[in-house]
Amino acid sequence: MRNSRPIILFPFLCFLSSTISILCDPNTLVCNEKEKHALLRFKKALSDPGNWLSSWSVNQDCCRWQTVRCNNVTGRVVELHLSNPYDTDDYEFYRLGGEISPALLELEFLSYLNSSGNDFGGSPIPSFLGSMGSLRYLDLNYARFGGLVPRQLGNLSSLRHLDLGRNNGLSIENLGWISHLAFLKYLSMDWVNLHREVHWLESVSLFPSLSELHLSGCELDSNMTSSLGYANFTSLTFLDLSDNNFNQEIPNWLFKLSSLVSLSLSVNQFKGQISESLGQLKYLKYLDVSVNSFHGPIPTSIGNLSSLRYLLLYENPLISGTLPTSLGQLKYLEYLNVFFNSFHGPIPTSIGNVSSLRYLFLSHNPLINGTLPMSLGLLSNLEKLEVGWTSLTGTISEVHFTALSKLKVLSISGTSLSFHVNSSWTPPFQLESLDADSSKMGPKFPTWLQTQKSLFYLDFSRSGIVDTAPNWFGKFASYIQQIHLSNNQISGDLSQVVLNNTIIDLSSNCFSGRLPCLYPNVVVLNIANNSFSGQISPFMCQKMNGRSELEVLDISINALSGELSDCWMHWPSLTHVSLGSNNLSGKIPNSMGSLVGLEALSLQNNSFYGDIPSSLENCESLGLINLSDNKFSGIIPRWIFERTTLIIIHLRSNKFMGKIPPQICQLSSLIVLDLADNSLSGSIPKCLNNISAMTAGPIRDIWYNALEADYGDEFYMESLVLDIKGRKSKYEKILKYVRMIDLSSNNLSGSIPNEISSLFGLQFLNLSRNHLMGRIPEKIGVMALLESLDLSRNHLSGEIPQSMSNLTFLDDLDLSFNNFSGRIPSSTQLQSFDPLSFFGNPELCGAPLTKNCTKDEETLNPTAVEENREFPEISWFYIGMGSGFIVGFWGVCGALFFKRAWRHAYFQFLYDMRDRAYVAIAIKLKWFHQKLRRYHAGKEKT
Ligand SMILES: *[C@@H]1O[C@H](CO)[C@@H](O)[C@H](O)[C@H]1NC(C)=O
Ligand SMILES: *[C@@H]1O[C@H](CO)[C@@H](O)[C@H](O)[C@H]1NC(C)=O
Ligand SMILES: *[C@@H]1O[C@H](CO)[C@@H](O)[C@H](O)[C@H]1NC(C)=O
Ligand SMILES: *[C@@H]1O[C@H](CO)[C@@H](O)[C@H](O)[C@H]1NC(C)=O
Ligand SMILES: *[C@@H]1O[C@H](CO)[C@@H](O)[C@H](O)[C@H]1NC(C)=O
Repeated sequence: MRNSRPIILFPFLCFLSSTISILCDPNTLVCNEKEKHALLRFKKALSDPGNWLSSWSVNQDCCRWQTVRCNNVTGRVVELHLSNPYDTDDYEFYRLGGEISPALLELEFLSYLNSSGNDFGGSPIPSFLGSMGSLRYLDLNYARFGGLVPRQLGNLSSLRHLDLGRNNGLSIENLGWISHLAFLKYLSMDWVNLHREVHWLESVSLFPSLSELHLSGCELDSNMTSSLGYANFTSLTFLDLSDNNFNQEIPNWLFKLSSLVSLSLSVNQFKGQISESLGQLKYLKYLDVSVNSFHGPIPTSIGNLSSLRYLLLYENPLISGTLPTSLGQLKYLEYLNVFFNSFHGPIPTSIGNVSSLRYLFLSHNPLINGTLPMSLGLLSNLEKLEVGWTSLTGTISEVHFTALSKLKVLSISGTSLSFHVNSSWTPPFQLESLDADSSKMGPKFPTWLQTQKSLFYLDFSRSGIVDTAPNWFGKFASYIQQIHLSNNQISGDLSQVVLNNTIIDLSSNCFSGRLPCLYPNVVVLNIANNSFSGQISPFMCQKMNGRSELEVLDISINALSGELSDCWMHWPSLTHVSLGSNNLSGKIPNSMGSLVGLEALSLQNNSFYGDIPSSLENCESLGLINLSDNKFSGIIPRWIFERTTLIIIHLRSNKFMGKIPPQICQLSSLIVLDLADNSLSGSIPKCLNNISAMTAGPIRDIWYNALEADYGDEFYMESLVLDIKGRKSKYEKILKYVRMIDLSSNNLSGSIPNEISSLFGLQFLNLSRNHLMGRIPEKIGVMALLESLDLSRNHLSGEIPQSMSNLTFLDDLDLSFNNFSGRIPSSTQLQSFDPLSFFGNPELCGAPLTKNCTKDEETLNPTAVEENREFPEISWFYIGMGSGFIVGFWGVCGALFFKRAWRHAYFQFLYDMRDRAYVAIAIKLKWFHQKLRRYHAGKEKT
């Protein structure tokens, strides 16, 4: 019957319009002229850079225009499909913009308007839209509207679908108007700022027919518990409240929304336990409560959610308890993510029943223990299995993989799981990524890897392999995009191999032979700390089929020999070059100056000689220069002291001469200056207090390109061996927190500039073994972070400044062999050092020296005894830092989400901080024990 009406009507229309030339076929509609002109006016006011409304031409029937739909009976325009059709690179180009003309109002029967994905430049949503009473569907998603949402939209009483989402900058102060939209089924206000509308819930919960509610990123924080005792929108199937500021328990009414299919509460501060009532939402397919502050166990009633496909619980660091066995009832579960929670105990065997499971993410739950259940081997749909950074132990064997033919990603990093498979095992899977960093893959080289032809990421660093790489290894390894095998004891000869990986890290192993050849694709080659030998020049001058993309070359700590050939122009992309600790010799070739992107150059501990060539001045981004322990000579070129990108200058133990020019004070980012053990003369520049990185101390989240290179999920990190407190130690992660000046063992003269005491961030200062005269700067006590001070073997004189007793971090002091006089200031600090620290100053007296002061040397310090009593509290403060750190660690964890690389960087930073805190604590504990000993010794005496 419905179809027959037009057939009856069309002959009639044809008859009427017989004078106009219109093809008379039943599919032809004639659009209303008035509406056509209205549409043309509408188009005119728009900007259309991609010309995507090109079909809108005067000469054509508007019902045939793309994006326009007419009623097939009346010929009136009923639908406008103006959403951006592209989701590719063309997207920006095809965004409509300009003005929305009120000409639209002439489309009396318009029921559908979709203008999503366009760009209205932050202008407000036109309020006249509220007069288009026929609208049932209005989609303005992601169209860059701004300002207040007009309340006139409340007049659209036929509206079923309203989408104002993802317009950055829209806000609503009073949502009362929405109550008129009695038929609303779909409402999206993602990103609309509703912060000031505390009654939003009463407004949106009115609609018994509402099916989808999207309120993500609306800055909502009102207490949902108090505002609603029950929920009226019982037809709701989709509820998204993610990315708001809710800071409460899940309100009870939510568990009564028994039709819910999808629920997201992620990225809020929801707290409390998740109630057993959760089990009432038995149609749920998607549940996301990740990145919140829930605590306690997850309800066992989760097993009742028999339709559940996605379960996201990650980054709730306080969620604990064991993983419930009832998870095994979730037959349709495809995705389970509990990263960064505090679950403990074993992985339930019942997980093997979840036969739909494709992704199982359990990593970063340090208390999950026990063995990997054999039943995992039944999960024939499993594609990703990530159980790293847990306390899982035991072996992984063939059984665990029986049916896992679809497995592509396996991560067991940071566990004690050890692989025990038959050497002839052929796995049922083809992995793309294997991450077994810090696990137990060894001691034999895993031969089954040979069967894996799709690997693009392989990491078994620190996994206890002590073996010779098999013959096939070279060929196998060369096609894996990222390969990380560092810190094992793998031996083998790669001379015949041509590597084609993007990132190669074979550092700290036993590889030997000549250096391998590279394809141009290689970006990072780190083979430091192996036994590669032979001349370096064949490698440097190798012919390559294309422009090399190598950015990081670290071949330090090997047995390479010969001179650096003049072939550096073959490696135009290099940013980090590390050739230290080999047997290299000769001069720095001029071609090194072609490395215009060079950020870090380390040539230490070789036998290089000659000048620093002037061509290096072209390396305008140089941040780290380490030439220590060579035979370089001549004057340190002026440009080095003017290169403001420099962070670390390490020229120790060479034969450099000349003066330290005042230009060095322009290096405001300098954190390490080590010119020790050269033949520098002249005085120490007074302006050192201009080096702001040393006056301010470490900044928490600073990133130095010269010290770290970021490759998505991977980092290359520079390291530096620093000679501190008479010990050489390698600094890597905490290098960027070091602040040090070492000018010792030169011929420097003059006095120690007073300005040096403005370097409040300085931790290590060594000016020993020079010809310095005069006094220690009076205010040295303000250098609160100073841990080590060595002024020995100079001609310094006068009294030791009283302020030195404020240097509470100082744990290494050497003032020996000078001409100091008077009494050593009394403090817990100075008396705790060995008398040798003050030795060779005949005029010095007082503890810890045995020489007592005579009356006129006495400079009485009445507070000394008091301070002595206070020290345990100071120490407890530092010990307290440890627990404070742990609380802080989990506190910030909760805020991390979304971008993996960002999160990685953040955790990396935290690990750095942990190292640093650890170092600080270790130092302080040592100091504390020392003090305690002396304190008790002192007590016994009195
Ligand atoms: C006219 O439109 C209605 C609904 O839009 C549709 O069901 C019907 O098949 C259409 N008729 C013709 C002849 O296209
Ligand atoms: C929210 O309101 C309920 C009921 O009034 C109250 O018990 C609860 O403490 C409130 N929560 C917050 C975080 O204010
Ligand atoms: C919500 O539902 C309850 C119970 O059905 C009813 O008493 C109440 O009037 C409804 N509220 C509104 C605002 O419609
Ligand atoms: C797992 O850890 C718990 C403590 O959280 C301990 O009681 C239990 O013995 C451990 N189980 C295994 C198998 O190590
Ligand atoms: C090297 O790897 C790249 C992809 O990273 C590939 O396109 C290229 O064909 C490879 N070259 C050889 C010789 O295998």
